[in-house]
Amino acid sequence: MYAAHFGLKREPFSIAPDPRYLFMSERHREALAHLLYGVRGGGGFVLLTGEIGAGKTTVCRCFLEQVPPRSKVAYIFNPKLTALELLQSVCAEFRIDVHGRGGAAPTLKDHVDALNEHLLRTHAEGENCVLIIDEAQNLSPDVLEQLRLLTNLETNERKLLQIILIGQPELRDMLARPDLEQLAQRVVARYHLDPLSEDETSHYIKHRLSVAGLSGLIPFDREARHRIHELTRGVPRRINLLCDRALLGAYANGRQRVDRATVDQAAIEVFDGRRRNATVQWTRRRAWLTGGAVAAVALGAGGAAAWWLGARHSAAASAAVATAAAASAAVARGAVAPAASAATPAAASGPATAGSSAAGATTAASSGTAPAATTGTAAAAARPAPPRHAASRASR
Ligand SMILES: Nc1ncnc2c1ncn2[C@@H]1O[C@H](COP(=O)(O)OP(=O)(O)OP(=O)(O)O)[C@@H](O)[C@H]1O
Ligand SMILES: [Mg+2]
Repeated sequence: MYAAHFGLKREPFSIAPDPRYLFMSERHREALAHLLYGVRGGGGFVLLTGEIGAGKTTVCRCFLEQVPPRSKVAYIFNPKLTALELLQSVCAEFRIDVHGRGGAAPTLKDHVDALNEHLLRTHAEGENCVLIIDEAQNLSPDVLEQLRLLTNLETNERKLLQIILIGQPELRDMLARPDLEQLAQRVVARYHLDPLSEDETSHYIKHRLSVAGLSGLIPFDREARHRIHELTRGVPRRINLLCDRALLGAYANGRQRVDRATVDQAAIEVFDGRRRNATVQWTRRRAWLTGGAVAAVALGAGGAAAWWLGARHSAAASAAVATAAAASAAVARGAVAPAASAATPAAASGPATAGSSAAGATTAASSGTAPAATTGTAAAAARPAPPRHAASRASR
């Protein structure tokens, strides 16, 4: 919506995992190297953790595009499963047919047996199997125990299944629990993806803008970029949210440059609407209290002049609040329609192999009307819900 205003061809700060915007910071590169190590490793668990929105899934998608040819990867991104459901998903990802005995539904054991057989066969054919579980902080202890048992599938020389667990910092905490010690001892490599430094944040912003088609001056001044890093702590998803809203704010005000004040305003709107509401409520309360207190003093003293002054003060404050509310409502009415979210075909497909389709992407497409000459952009663009990953298949 604001893209053309800044000389861009497309929205630069969608929170969709669009591979065109991939920015390989040093840490993202190292995280990727760990996953690649995981494929070659001799079994056990490889751990990739990182703060919410740090780019773990992004790195994983990048990894899925460069899996070595003799590796088979099963990717599970929704691990809120029972042990049986997990086994069903793993077998489905590796395309293993599982049959129950005597026409009965296949049990957990049937799945483990079929998986074992499959692993032995692929090993004999010189291939190795890797299971990647994203959002692994959602795994229950039962399921983690089942995974540990899967790493026991082995020949005399080597483990047959390499498992990569990707998750938020709670995953590390989970694995530090005494009851998960057995699993923790099987972790052969760990990497924690830290947020971007201030310099990297600047490069990240510039990178996304240039992929979006920016050819002229970067719209964020140095102070604004510094503030963005402070407010987002260098977390890419937060950077995207904040930059998107700040650009919208500048656009709404008919400006070409984003300054620190615009970033601050955008942060209030995008990160914590309650703070903004609380500010308005507090202003109202203060206006009321000020008026009330002055009135009480005035009445107590019996001074008619003081009462008049107090009443005027209160009325002025209330009027200010009313004006602010009216301005806000005007923005809501006039500025921009809520951003729409449109599903696109899978943006990052898995390794180019038969039947693979990595998680689908969701692209946020903003739509709206002309800029409004107001300072607030709270109602200017309602964000679509964060994209959920579509179904994925194993890479073959
Ligand atoms: N290296 C990167 N290059 C470009 N964009 C990135 C990068 N890392 C993160 N992003 C942006 O941030 C968004 C969030 O990243 P991602 O989904 O990978 O984070 P995550 O660590 O998996 O988060 P969560 O903990 O919620 O699963 C991505 O959709 C993308 O828009
Ligand atoms: Mg993720």
